[in-house]
Amino acid sequence: MKSYVPAVAICLLLAGLALAWMPPAPKRLSSYDPQVKELLSKMTLDEKIGQMTQPEQDRVLSNPGDMQKYFIGSVLSGGDSDPSAGNTLQAWTDLYDKVQAEAMKTRLAIPVLYGIDAVHGHSNVLGAVMFPHNIALGCTRDPKLVEKIGRITAEEVRATGIQWTFGPCVAVPQDIRWGRTYEGFSEDPKVVKRLGEAAVRGMQGSDLSSPLSILACAKHYVGDGGTSATTAPRPGPVPANAGARLWLDQGETKVDEATLRRIHLQGYISAVKAGVGSIMPSYSSWNGVKCSGSKRLLTEILKQELGFEGFLISDYNAISQVKPGDYKTSVEVSINAGMDMAMEPSDYRNFFNTLKELVTEGRVPMSRIDDAVTRILRVKFAMGMMDKDRSQLADRRLHSTFGSPEHRAVAREAVRKSLVLLKNERKILPLSKQLDRIHVSGKSADNIGNQCGGWTIRWQGQTGSVTPGGTTILEAIRVSVSKTTQVTYSLDGTGAEGAAMGIVVIGEKPYAEGVGDRGDLALDKEDLAAIANVKKTGIPVVVILVAGRPMIIGEALPQADAFMAAFLPGTEGQGVTDVLFGDFKPTGKLSFSWPKSMDQLPLNPNSPKAGYVPLFRLGYGLTY
Ligand code: BGC
Ligand code: BGC
Repeated sequence: MKSYVPAVAICLLLAGLALAWMPPAPKRLSSYDPQVKELLSKMTLDEKIGQMTQPEQDRVLSNPGDMQKYFIGSVLSGGDSDPSAGNTLQAWTDLYDKVQAEAMKTRLAIPVLYGIDAVHGHSNVLGAVMFPHNIALGCTRDPKLVEKIGRITAEEVRATGIQWTFGPCVAVPQDIRWGRTYEGFSEDPKVVKRLGEAAVRGMQGSDLSSPLSILACAKHYVGDGGTSATTAPRPGPVPANAGARLWLDQGETKVDEATLRRIHLQGYISAVKAGVGSIMPSYSSWNGVKCSGSKRLLTEILKQELGFEGFLISDYNAISQVKPGDYKTSVEVSINAGMDMAMEPSDYRNFFNTLKELVTEGRVPMSRIDDAVTRILRVKFAMGMMDKDRSQLADRRLHSTFGSPEHRAVAREAVRKSLVLLKNERKILPLSKQLDRIHVSGKSADNIGNQCGGWTIRWQGQTGSVTPGGTTILEAIRVSVSKTTQVTYSLDGTGAEGAAMGIVVIGEKPYAEGVGDRGDLALDKEDLAAIANVKKTGIPVVVILVAGRPMIIGEALPQADAFMAAFLPGTEGQGVTDVLFGDFKPTGKLSFSWPKSMDQLPLNPNSPKAGYVPLFRLGYGLTY
């Protein structure tokens, strides 16, 4: 008996230590209610509605006086909403300061919350470090790393003064034909749950009031990744450059509530636990009801059951989709369902006036307005925005670490940990750095834009040199090999004769949202041709796929001696060569199932569809 005592004591000590090491639970947002209440009691109806209204920066600035007239509480920059002075760090910081200075001229001088899609780093700003997109981070299965990425993203966003990102996306994409697949960490809700929580912790930190923290936004609530593919024309506005065809984006998720909870709700459970201050309801519908107008989803499940104390921000013009053609009813239904802030990029005046009318007519109760504004102000208090002693202008000292080598080193680590080795015949990898000559080819070998994908400088991303800084895979190969190794390059794979090794980098060109919905994930003809051109010279071939999702590689795989999936690695190509040349072992595991053919889709272990026979299963990944 006696001998157990020290053991028990040690166990208690260890448990105590473990508790002490656990990240402190973030302060509850409702703990700011006394201050909020006091401020709310001074606010007019117009001032309250202003807090609920979010225009796009360029539209509101082009109407001088509107920030004050409508008491605007928040603005956004959408994917293509850049400063008129260009896209530099300087221009973004100046823009933020200008918007903030406008907000401070309102009667109560409540600072403005500026939101942006910093979805893989501060990805709208030239020279920011662009991290791998979430699909790649999912392959790392590494919450500590994802948290670190969140911290750095927060710091680079703060360097421009901006305090809010529309991320993390905690979608659980069930069908890789969806153009937003790469925005999700995994088709596996367990992975999304863990990494989504880590991302929120990283961005918000343990204390939202830290000047290095930003407000996170879990999106798109809920079931955005569960929509069924359709070729029927879609209701509601269709993006101008949508292309033809098959649709999944903004569609309908037809599952029972148990399935919705088991698969699609998981990321929200953990994000709320991590203290996420905002959540974006989805454009999509659940069993015929728009999520953005569903009281069951927004109020009963999210706010009441999960205890979410932050605020809901609608997606870009999403409110008007609730009852298409009837804006007033759309606003009524959405706000009464629990929407707290409206992203109305250009129609913000209309939103403001419509909501005011609805309140005056008693169709939206004043208690709902007070609840919405309370939730928004809680966040502003929690972020130290209401602290009179604190400047709300950008802290330009942070410019010195923007896109710094230290930040890039973390992105590089993320790249090498996310690579998934699918094939390695005759142990051809790792490559020697002493080879006489390596011939590199393929459309994504020397293309930082393709590496970064969508949501990079432009909404849709851009092929080619989209941003300065960073390293393409070709450049990374050049700096990795020995002085005596010759590296030659051709886009189409010609000229490989006589090389010791061929490396072909292929995949998808950038896209975002519904524009990327695709009914055919076959490799481009030019990609197959590049592989064939190298292969026919008889040298060994390493294929690297740079794409937003698994693709149909049946034709290419037999041609490749080694095949590596890099997904969308971002700016740091050296993460690829770290593994290629054996400085690090590959450790990435697939975050999505890899189909053999299109007719297998949707394919994932969660789907009730019989027969899970992928080319590579979820979690697959070789090493050496
Ligand atoms: C904006 C994006 C937005 C999209 C919605 C684009 O013009 O730049 O931020 O997501 O429209 O369709
Ligand atoms: C997207 C959101 C994004 C918003 C603002 C929408 O089109 O669905 O993910 O946060 O635009 O750019």
